[in-house]
Parts: sequence; structure tokens; C-alpha cells
Amino acid sequence: MDKLVIEGGVPLTGTINVSGSKNAALPILMASILAEEPITYTNVPRLRDIHTTNKLLSILGCPAEFEGDTVSVRPCDLKPEAPYDLVKTMRASVLCLGPLLARLGEARVALPGGCAIGARPVDLHLTALEKMGARFELEEGYIIGRCRKLKGAHIYFDFPTVGGTENLLMAATLAEGETILENAAREPEVVDLARFLIACGAKIEGHGTSVIRVQGVPRLHGCEYAIMPDRIEAGTFLVAAGITGGELLLTGCPWEELDAVIVKLNAMGMHIEKTSEGVLAKRRNGGLRGTDVTTQPFPGFPTDMQAQVMSLMCLAEGTSVVQENIFENRFMHVLELVRMGADIRISGRSAVVRGVKRLTGAPVMASDLRASASLVLAGLAARGTTHVQRIYHLDRGYERIELKLNAVGARIRREAE
Ligand code: EPZ
Repeated sequence: MDKLVIEGGVPLTGTINVSGSKNAALPILMASILAEEPITYTNVPRLRDIHTTNKLLSILGCPAEFEGDTVSVRPCDLKPEAPYDLVKTMRASVLCLGPLLARLGEARVALPGGCAIGARPVDLHLTALEKMGARFELEEGYIIGRCRKLKGAHIYFDFPTVGGTENLLMAATLAEGETILENAAREPEVVDLARFLIACGAKIEGHGTSVIRVQGVPRLHGCEYAIMPDRIEAGTFLVAAGITGGELLLTGCPWEELDAVIVKLNAMGMHIEKTSEGVLAKRRNGGLRGTDVTTQPFPGFPTDMQAQVMSLMCLAEGTSVVQENIFENRFMHVLELVRMGADIRISGRSAVVRGVKRLTGAPVMASDLRASASLVLAGLAARGTTHVQRIYHLDRGYERIELKLNAVGARIRREAE
């Protein structure tokens, strides 16, 4: 296993290009199962989860070739089974359920286990697909789904689940008749998936709102598609500018999709503005001030930025309160930040952060993707050396983060643990 060794204390200055979005690429690649012709994807981030997805697509009969930031997928004779040894490494594999049922009328997908941040059930996906005529059994840890032909239905999600909305959106494109998804997720990644499906001939309206309408069509054709930029990678680099007291220009950076994050970072004393070259981020004079953050479904503050903004709060004057409403166990970074000198107290789904003068480098353990990012950010600002261990978590969602950060002045080495 690898670790990152970070010498902290350097204000980062320079330009970073934002990669394609992991959380848009995963469902959009999975949606190639629905098409009957080849598809070429560009701006695909080179991430562990993308390699896993490409491996899964090849096993399902859609050979995927990765060349630079381009992935070409050639749907052939589809197979219905997503094996456990792949699904256990990436929960998002469950996103092949909807497309397989829509194309084959059959799916055998290993039930994804929980992960560090929570139980991550898929009950909302299954209940909704049952309304479209699918029947499910659980056998030896596999979800076995069958249907004659999916039928359009009026579905109401108890919670605006991102993955559930994506699975049902894909399933509905080839169903008989109209499907209405109510209380659907509004995340930008859901919108990007809808745009991709429309480019393949799907009939979708309302994506980006809470009510999405889909008219089923007999088949989807191929297309060329560029994945949207990654708003969470971008948000992570905005925090890197603030926490190190540097100045970063992010090219290919989303703006509207980061609204809730930018408002909060500016309230903490950063100055983030959109320029003709990209998004410029730096700390205003007068230091950082604490603020309160409550994670919500989009357009609220994204849970995937909670750990990163907490690192910034550790060095902000005053007290900040973080309320995590999306996942039941997404404070795994807290005890590691405390090892670096942070003053944070957890009570249930809230954490109270009292700013300290400085953080000091220490050996810390990554536990999940965004917790790892928060430890790297803290290490960049800390006095001394920080060893972030188990960074395979980080590689799932950040394309060689140390190369991008070292290019703007960071001092990070990747070493075997
Ligand atoms: C997606 O996960 C993202 N992953 C997550 O990003 C992100 O944190 C999450 O959406 C929320 O924005 C991908 O897009 C690959 P949900 P997903 O279904 O689809 C509960 C990252 O760091 N729920 O909106 O799994 C669930 O337990 C990752 O990039 C049910 O109870 O999120 C959770 O508490 C982490 N039953 C909440 O809803 C269900 O059937 C949100 O889940 C489905 C979800």
C-alpha cells in the first residue's frame, strides 16, 4: 500500500486543470450498456474507479478501451452478471442494474457492501424498479433481477437518491411508455447523465429539477460525449488555496455547480472569482473566520466537500459547526485531524470545530475518499511532515493528486508504506 509524505507550510501558487468528473463518468460509462452502437467518451478522469468500471463493462460484454482521457466502448453480446470481486471494490457497480434490466430483462449484481461512510443500502433503487415490473431475489449475496419488459411508472423517491435517480433514469429510457421520477436528485452529475442519454436518442425532460419525465424509446444509438468537469476535485483545490494562503487559478473549473461551496469559502475569508482564464482562488487579508455548514442534496452544500471544508475550519478563527445530513458516519477524518492538533468535538451528526493557531504534521490514516483529501489539505498547511497512509482511497477519486499539487509548489512524495 502507498502513502503520501507531505512537507507542509508552502503557499500554493499557479494553475491547476480540473479533470473530468468521477461521479458523472461512472453512471455515463455504465449507460453504454443501453446503446446498440459504439460510444466514445472524452475528458474521462484516469481513476481507479474508472478502471474498475471499464473492467466491469468488459465482463458484461461491452469491451472498454482507455486511451489517454478517451474511453471507447463497443457494446457486444451482453451478459447479466456483475461479479462480487468487482462490486465489493466499487459500490457504484450497482448502477449497471437498471441498464441490464432495460436491455436484457435480467441482472445478477452482487449486493454492494457498506463502506466506511455508511450502510449505503439500495432499497430505493429496488423498490422503484419493482414499480416498473422488475422482480428481485437475494441469493448468495447477489441481487437477482428479472422482468419481461420494463414498463413506465410514476415513481416517488422517499429521498432524492443520486444513484437511485441515475439507475431509474437509465432503466426508463428503454421502458414501455412514460416514467415520471418525483423527488429526483438534482445533482449536476445526474444532469450530465441525462444529457448523455439524450445524445444517444433518449427522450428526457426535467433533468436538474425534482421531477424528471422519460418517454421510453425502442433503442439507443452511439455518440461521442465529453464528461463534465469534477466539481468536487475543483472544490478540493479551492480549499488548498485557502488553507495554504496561496493563490490558484483553476482551468476547466465548474462555476454554477460550486455555488454553495464558493459562498461558504468566501464567508470564511477567501476571495474566489470567475475570470476569463478560469476560477481564481486566494485568501483575503485578515485571515480565515469560522462558519457553519450543513450538508444537503444539491443545490445545498455537498456532503462530498464536508471533510475538505472541515480542514479549513481547523485553522479559521472562532467556532464552526458542521452538520452531516446525508451519511451516518462521515466524520472518519475528525480523529485524524485531531492527531494533527485540531480541536474538534463530535456529537451525533454534528461536529464543533474550534480554530487553532496551527496544525502539526503527524502519521494519519485515510479511511475513505474525501477523508483522505481532507488529510492531504491539512498536511499542506501543517508545520512539519505528515504521512497520509492507505492512499488507495484517494486514488479512487483524484487523478495523481500529488503531481497536480507539486506543480503549484507542494512538497509531496508518494512512497510504499
Ligand atoms: C453518490 O452516492 C455519490 N457517488 C457520492 O459520492 C455522494 O456522496 C452521494 O451521491 C451524495 O451526493 C457516486 O456518484 C458514484 P445517494 P450514492 O443514493 O448514489 C441513502 C464520493 O465521495 N440511500 O444519494 O450512493 C444513503 O445511504 C461519493 O465521490 C438509501 O437509504 O448516494 C445515503 O445515506 C461518496 N437507500 C443517502 O441516501 C437507497 O436506496 C444518499 O445516498 C439509496 C440511498
